[in-house]
Amino acid sequence: VIDIRKLYGDTGYFTYDPGYMSTGSCESKITFIDGDEGVLLHRGYPIDELADHSDFMEVAYLLLHGELPTEVQSREFEHAITYHTMVHEQLRRFYDGFRRDAHPMAVMCGVTGALAAFYHDSTDITDERQREIATHRLIAKMPTLAAMAYKYSVGQPFVYPRNDLGYAENFLNMMFSVPAEPYRMSPTLSKAMDKIFILHADHEQNASTSTVRLAGSSGANPFACIAAGIASLWGPAHGGANEAVLKMLGEIGSKDKVGEAVKMAKDKSSHFRLMGFGHRVYKNYDPRAKVMQKTCYEVLGELGVKDPLLDVAMELERIALQDEYFVERKLYPNVDFYSGIILKAMGFPVSMFTVLFAVARTVGWVAQWKEMIEDPAYKIGRPRQLYTGAPKRSFVPVEKR
Ligand code: ACO
Repeated sequence: VIDIRKLYGDTGYFTYDPGYMSTGSCESKITFIDGDEGVLLHRGYPIDELADHSDFMEVAYLLLHGELPTEVQSREFEHAITYHTMVHEQLRRFYDGFRRDAHPMAVMCGVTGALAAFYHDSTDITDERQREIATHRLIAKMPTLAAMAYKYSVGQPFVYPRNDLGYAENFLNMMFSVPAEPYRMSPTLSKAMDKIFILHADHEQNASTSTVRLAGSSGANPFACIAAGIASLWGPAHGGANEAVLKMLGEIGSKDKVGEAVKMAKDKSSHFRLMGFGHRVYKNYDPRAKVMQKTCYEVLGELGVKDPLLDVAMELERIALQDEYFVERKLYPNVDFYSGIILKAMGFPVSMFTVLFAVARTVGWVAQWKEMIEDPAYKIGRPRQLYTGAPKRSFVPVEKR
């Protein structure tokens, strides 16, 4: 007989909450979500206003510091970021160790963790200045590492960061420039990239952010914590969903097959879900999906692309939003539903979609990590479990098993 008070404390109780459906793990001043109303605020500012009027660097500053920057603060912050966009030359050699066909998220897990081995001078988390430099380094280097992962996979030379370009433009340039043909900048596409980064910048205690916080709660250095976040983001139920959406839209193929797909998604025995639909917190239209849908039209218009997948997506949304199953369960399109179509039109291979998410979310991860470390009450995260295994028993020698 086990005295459960010895296990679970004097009360004998702890909350058992698989998937943390109703467990708050921290206090935070960064991001607010009202899932029923479809509201997302960063430091109080609605996401659609930020997407329309701000830019990713400003939003990064806002998430980290709590207020929108003044002009001077903006310039200083951009300087602090651009100062760190290069990566150590030795880090380039890491890429040679990966197979050409490695998934870029696998490469990102490795090279981001490796930053801790190159930037020791910003791994002391007790030092405020080191913490600040580590956050700047991570925000600055992530696009460089991501573009290098892509260039390596297609066998093209790495393109060095250009600090005269904005954050999104520099990333597009590192991704798509080739020696014979520099990337042709388009304000519409740069703005769209910047918006996509803003829309993915933070989303309170999602799986990857909680992973970053949990890893960081042991005192691990920020580079290691962000590598853990990237690993968590990789899954199809989280950051991998936009990749899955595009695959699904391609498999559906045409508008007339949409009804069949919706029927299959309702049939539990099919184990098929409509990718890009539903959200743990939003029980209404994801406000990011609305901005993403608008951006999708802008990008396709600018590029003169007529993507039949967009027609499939629109039809899917139309039918699902009228279907009792989806209405009852409050399953609406989420941020991933339209992003894949935009990214594909811009020339990103599907395998890079989650990497782009990681680039943007690094800002949220470091802001959340910093908030936790700077909270005097922070503790190591250590959930309990409901043990359902064998009771205590005596060891059985191998000949008696
Ligand atoms: N298609 C069909 N049915 C669905 C879907 C879907 N996309 N999502 C949820 N459901 C159903 C479930 O089968 C369940 O039905 P039941 O009550 O009859 O059993 C009900 O809706 C509730 O679903 P849960 O899985 O319990 O909801 P949860 O909050 O755990 O899951 C999740 C949220 C993982 C996002 C889920 O909706 C899903 O798998 N969606 C598809 C993947 C996706 O788009 N992920 C991206 C999320 S956004 C992001 O990470 C940026």
